[in-house]
Amino acid sequence: MRVPLIAGNWKMNMTIPEAVELVNGIKIGLRWPEDVDVVVAPPFTSLKMVSEVAKDSYIAVSAQNVHHEENGAYTGEIAASFIKDAGANYVIIGHSERRQHCNETDELVNKKVRIALKNELKPIVCVGETLEQREQGNFVEVIEKQLSVGLEDLTQVLASELVIAYEPVWAIGTGKVATVTQIEEVHEKIRAFLAKNFSEDVANSVRVLYGGSVKAENSKEILSLPNVDGALVGGASLNSAGFIEIIKSLPPR
Ligand code: 13P
Repeated sequence: MRVPLIAGNWKMNMTIPEAVELVNGIKIGLRWPEDVDVVVAPPFTSLKMVSEVAKDSYIAVSAQNVHHEENGAYTGEIAASFIKDAGANYVIIGHSERRQHCNETDELVNKKVRIALKNELKPIVCVGETLEQREQGNFVEVIEKQLSVGLEDLTQVLASELVIAYEPVWAIGTGKVATVTQIEEVHEKIRAFLAKNFSEDVANSVRVLYGGSVKAENSKEILSLPNVDGALVGGASLNSAGFIEIIKSLPPR
């Protein structure tokens, strides 16, 4: 059985004191142990501090990006080993904001996934179509290409460590949520892709999250879909009470 995962992507928000307050709020507000994995992804500057605060809790910590090389002359970049060193165990890779603003390609996503896995970080690999691609009707092909190039040549053992997040670009930060039918359709296709390209075991063990305007008001319906194993939450994860409500809206298992 897949343990559900709720992750908060704080994006470029939260100073160190704000980050500490937020993670403490989540820690205090939840009754542990819950039957769920909770992950927070602060900016790099508060990664270590948040990891320290989260240490004696069930909250795991994620980076929002990683460089694709082990180390070297890459001014301003952060290596996978530094993220591990700061106490994080996950890393978000290929978020649409990085694809859009930093020209990240599927090939680069693949390099980042490999370096993350080599350093024992669990990648949360983001895929999703733009509004134009949705309207053109070829969104499944777009997502399958993101997966086939982004996850190219991974062994089954490594692939089973992945988390995939389906985030339709048109639903991010817009308040526009995909319908449950749209979400379940894509999640089913992602699971079928994993079964075909890796194995049934990989397809059964990889968590597929939904992201895009998830909040307490809509999370219950989304999280009860059979192929949705959790959520990658942006804006609504910046407030501990709202984030906890989303975690609590998971269906009982
Ligand atoms: P919002 O929840 O703010 O739409 O952001 C979603 C997202 O991009 C999470 O990675």
